[in-house]
Amino acid sequence: MTPVTQALQQRISVRAYLDRPVPQALVRELLDTARWSPSGGNLQPWRVIAVAGKEREAVCDLAANGSWSGAGPEDGGYALYPPSLWEPHRSRRYELGEQMYALLGIAREDKEGRLRQFAANYRFFDAPVGLFFIIDKRMGHGQWAHIGMFMQSVMLAAVELGLATCPQEAWGVYRGRLHKHLGLAAAEMVYCGMALGYADPDAPVNQLRSERASVDEFASLRGFD
Ligand SMILES: Cc1cc2nc3c(=O)[nH]c(=O)nc-3n(C[C@H](O)[C@H](O)[C@H](O)COP(=O)(O)O)c2cc1C
Repeated sequence: MTPVTQALQQRISVRAYLDRPVPQALVRELLDTARWSPSGGNLQPWRVIAVAGKEREAVCDLAANGSWSGAGPEDGGYALYPPSLWEPHRSRRYELGEQMYALLGIAREDKEGRLRQFAANYRFFDAPVGLFFIIDKRMGHGQWAHIGMFMQSVMLAAVELGLATCPQEAWGVYRGRLHKHLGLAAAEMVYCGMALGYADPDAPVNQLRSERASVDEFASLRGFD
């Protein structure tokens, strides 16, 4: 297997981390690798703010340290998913949730338990580093795709460095206060957060292996002999 295939298969969303700091030099190395991501017209429409230590704490405080109780997105926010999600996406989302809560032993009726688990997003699942991916609101659909590619590059490069990640759109809920706290320009917005650290190998939630549709379900290969 090539290292790329390996990294693609090894990368998972890690939702529990060891209490082990990630040195600044390693975060820099990670971003130095990821910056080779492609983007249309080479616009490189991304900006990253990495927070550790007190800066990380301040951001978590902003989000009430994971005591989130189901509030909707603030100003400048948008729904994480389209309303009335349709098939097959609806079932995929449902199954992921069921798989995760089963591993955590949180029952369907345990609304509080589920909320608590979701709220852990706002502590970066206890990862020592948080990354925020920032885009200029004047950018179009294309550039949104490109920042996504950049994030995938960060996540794959992290695997190579022995680091784990979890992309976190959940931070979008606090887009308004993050904008102010991070001192973003008027046109900028936080698209997504990301937890970064060393995976806790013993945490049950990290046993989660989400499924994927087969190639035949999403691709049609035409005109081949
Ligand atoms: C852009 C993006 C945002 C995400 N936001 C969250 C999030 O806020 N919280 C979370 O626990 N997982 C989040 N995820 C993780 C997805 O649930 C996960 O990628 C998906 O279930 C596939 O699992 P895998 O990453 O382990 O392969 C996000 C993933 C992406 C790509």
